[in-house]
Amino acid sequence: MTQPSINTRIATEADDEAILAVEAVSWDSSSGFPSMREPKESAFNERTTPANYVLAEVDGKVVGYSRLMPKTPVAENSHVKGIYGLAVVPEARGLGVASKLLEASADEARRQGARKISLGVFSTNEPARRLYAKHGYFEEGRSKDEFLVDGAYVDNIMLAKVL
Ligand SMILES: CC(C)(COP(=O)(O)OP(=O)(O)OC[C@H]1O[C@@H](n2cnc3c(N)ncnc32)[C@H](O)[C@@H]1OP(=O)(O)O)[C@@H](O)C(=O)NCCC(=O)NCCS
Repeated sequence: MTQPSINTRIATEADDEAILAVEAVSWDSSSGFPSMREPKESAFNERTTPANYVLAEVDGKVVGYSRLMPKTPVAENSHVKGIYGLAVVPEARGLGVASKLLEASADEARRQGARKISLGVFSTNEPARRLYAKHGYFEEGRSKDEFLVDGAYVDNIMLAKVL
């Protein structure tokens, strides 16, 4: 099978619906919080603007996103970005879309002057943990029983990559 061509770009205001559509089908209890699946009016708010979304497209259709934010608002922490959400629609998985999103996010973080990216992943989320390991993310810590998801406690693993 020929691999599709995957394009990445920064979102614009016009991508709101497409981001919400990805969000609606991409998360389940092994990867995210049930509360993330509650319907939202917009992917954007005062803190999260289109500039915070790196999008992946196949054949011109948005199939995934990475949300890249300052890790905290503190000036002394401004060299660290956080990925607060990485998702690919089920039908586009296994094609390298998330890999392209991680590469594009690292490029964008570097462009903004960052020297480190950090993120959290459920201990139970094997596909995502393998993805991050493949891209050079290492474990910085673990918060035990950090989330209660569908009646079960899940550890949150903090990962980081030095750019
Ligand atoms: C995790 C997720 C983003 C991966 O997206 P994807 O586009 O399918 O990933 P890629 O095709 O780029 O895969 C890259 C690497 O990730 C790992 N990987 C991805 N899916 C995997 C799976 N189902 N099982 C095992 N490893 C997997 C592999 O190391 C893979 O490299 P390989 O193909 O050389 O083996 C996607 O499954 C998803 O959106 N899941 C739900 C949301 C989520 O878990 N987000 C991360 C939260 S922290």
